[in-house]
Amino acid sequence: LGEPLRPAHSQIPADIACAADYERHAAHHIEAQAWRHIQGGADQNLTLAHNRTAFNNLRLLPRPLADMQGAHTRTELLGHTLSSPILLAPVAYQRLVHPEGEIATIRAAVALQTGMVVSTLSSCTLEEIAQTGQAAEAEMGQAAPRWFQLYLQPDRAHSLQLLRRAEAAGYTAIVWTVDASIKRSGFPLPYGVEAANLHGMPATQHTSPLQGPILFGTPLMAQVPSWDDLRWLRAHTALPLIVKGVLSPAQAQQAVSLGADALIVSNHGGRVLDGVVSPLDVLPAIASSVGPHVPLLLDSGVRYGTDVVKALAMGASAVLIGRPQVHALATAGLLGVAHMLHLLRAELELTMTHLGCTTVDRITREVLWSVAPAS
Ligand code: FNR
Repeated sequence: LGEPLRPAHSQIPADIACAADYERHAAHHIEAQAWRHIQGGADQNLTLAHNRTAFNNLRLLPRPLADMQGAHTRTELLGHTLSSPILLAPVAYQRLVHPEGEIATIRAAVALQTGMVVSTLSSCTLEEIAQTGQAAEAEMGQAAPRWFQLYLQPDRAHSLQLLRRAEAAGYTAIVWTVDASIKRSGFPLPYGVEAANLHGMPATQHTSPLQGPILFGTPLMAQVPSWDDLRWLRAHTALPLIVKGVLSPAQAQQAVSLGADALIVSNHGGRVLDGVVSPLDVLPAIASSVGPHVPLLLDSGVRYGTDVVKALAMGASAVLIGRPQVHALATAGLLGVAHMLHLLRAELELTMTHLGCTTVDRITREVLWSVAPAS
């Protein structure tokens, strides 16, 4: 980018009209190497690109003239009432882009009354984030759930410690990410940014060196999650368990049969494996394999209110937002994240109005135009 980094604004920049506009601004507030790390996908970025095309290829069918009295976006999810079906995905090391990191993000989540999933690799401790969330709830008089995203540690005793800490701090669900234990891109953290939750635990090797035996037959294999880990987790926590990173309908069904309460259908924002199917493509098959009672959340590529509607129409109960959260945080801290969520919700409301949907439950396949196959 070739120009000095700009500190985060203390106000929302005037030229931001939609959530996606934050990306353009964020490039000026994030150091070049961190920017590449945040934005990047695996290999050729095929998955990353397809995550967007999958949304763009669906067509909405407007239904004006509906009576929109009493319309709202409230959503019930795992016992919580959210102001909208738009949550914050787990994103590691948020102090990379803003000095307050996750502390700012959790305040924004409470302000907008929506859920935040806190990463194992958060740069503020899970306890600090939970306390800030509770204080913000008391101050603002509204609730917002906090879920803890778990990366299993090489030693189960350490995974158990993380679980117990999350439970003690008041997190109300565990999100177990299964699709990213091993990936190829390494990123050296700058001084002052660290995995705040993992003090005293050996560093998890997330990167496989591309020399010598890279994975098979090395200790790294022990970090690849298994069905046995799911049984273990289910036996060790009474909190709702959400498995993140499922794309196969058969595996989705198996995860539910082993005790998963909900699933996040995700390809990790195209960051892990290239050429992967997009969550939107597989969602209908997953929905029919797990049945109507298992909440399905979706992430990867959600940028506009129309995307939220398309995901819900294809069978999602809610969506999660990854990169735009970082863009907004870098651009304007807490205000930025709150504004980004507000804009997405406003776009959702506008879209629902055009489609004649007064509640999120009414967003069904009927809002999509499907071309009948040629006979
Ligand atoms: C992530 N994601 C992620 N997921 C997870 O389970 N634990 C984590 O610590 C992280 N960290 C992380 C860092 C960064 C910089 C990014 C961009 C993403 C994945 C994230 O939860 C989500 O699946 C994707 O970001 C969704 O795709 P979009 O919205 O970024 O397209």
